[in-house]
Amino acid sequence: MTYRVAIIGAGKIAHAHLEAMSKLAKLQPCSIADVQQERSDALASANGLSSYSDYKEMILREKPDIVIVTLPHHLHKKAAQFAAEQGCHILLEKPMALNTQECDDIISTVQTNDVRLMVGHTQHYISHNLEARRWIRSGRLGRLIMINDRRHQQYDLPGRPDWFFEKSKAGGGILMNLGSHTIDKIQWLTDSCVTRLTASVEYEQTRGDVEGGGCAFLHTSAGIPATLSLSGYPGAIVDETELLFTRGSMMLRTGIGLWVSEGADYREVPVEEQVNPFVGQFEDLLGAIEEKREPHCSLEYSRSVVAAVEGLYLSHQQGAEITVNQRGCTHAS
Ligand SMILES: NC(=O)c1ccc[n+]([C@@H]2O[C@H](COP(=O)([O-])OP(=O)(O)OC[C@H]3O[C@@H](n4cnc5c(N)ncnc54)[C@H](O)[C@@H]3O)[C@@H](O)[C@H]2O)c1
Repeated sequence: MTYRVAIIGAGKIAHAHLEAMSKLAKLQPCSIADVQQERSDALASANGLSSYSDYKEMILREKPDIVIVTLPHHLHKKAAQFAAEQGCHILLEKPMALNTQECDDIISTVQTNDVRLMVGHTQHYISHNLEARRWIRSGRLGRLIMINDRRHQQYDLPGRPDWFFEKSKAGGGILMNLGSHTIDKIQWLTDSCVTRLTASVEYEQTRGDVEGGGCAFLHTSAGIPATLSLSGYPGAIVDETELLFTRGSMMLRTGIGLWVSEGADYREVPVEEQVNPFVGQFEDLLGAIEEKREPHCSLEYSRSVVAAVEGLYLSHQQGAEITVNQRGCTHAS
């Protein structure tokens, strides 16, 4: 069985999806749509696809089996719902949507139309993260007692499109965009959901009307607390997740390496050959389609990430601790 795949949005991340599809014989990209048609034309001619400016016309004409949505965040809901209503399975880029209300609307449409939708939480498929998760589960370092995650990188770079800096289009700045990766990583490593949080958000503007950074204290349903620090202001680049256990500690630099201490200094541990995380995502989605089940990264799980990010902004606004994900979430395996 092969699947015809259409892409909505011919921006930066569409290239990664096309590259991953070239490694999977079951996936046959057929078309791409972008309102900036010169973008879809360029990717279409380089990859032998049909090019459209209107994604609805593309879906109605091409009748793809799978639609990949790589649009600005405020367009995720409408595009995913339209694709689901036409009976297409969907790979939706993270974050699922602008807020939990939109996530609920997507979930309802997907369930009504009995299609599979998976949000592209790439963290689950990165080799260093997978190895870190194996160490946690092995118990070799004892019980995991806390996580401190720091991600600092200048966010306002000239190449970043303007919509990332408009709250109405992106849902927020670095907390929404990179923070959804951070929250996903913390939840997925601990098999849990963020349940309570307190956050402080920094709004000194660099561009647009979104925040430039923030920090938060998170409680998880696993009883493992975590701190999160995200800064998009200029400074040294940091991307570190430190995990502290009762008998050791672990330093995870996603995409770079994994270091473990069993009492002494950190030593780097070997990590299996790097797999392309975008290939891993497709394999998960294909499994869900063929076995007629929820993807491992479930709808409720993806909603829980948005709920936690939403909570960061609310906590800052209200100057209070916020409770989220009380209905829990079926966890991604
Ligand atoms: N998983 C990851 O690691 C990762 C990395 C980067 C981006 N992303 C996510 O991918 C999504 C897209 O990000 P990007 O960096 O590719 O953005 P981008 O701005 O480069 O691309 C978005 C494209 O959508 C097009 N577009 C806008 N409105 C449209 C419409 N109505 N119909 C058709 N096309 C339309 C734009 O013209 C643009 O080409 C976002 O959700 C982002 O958070 C994920």
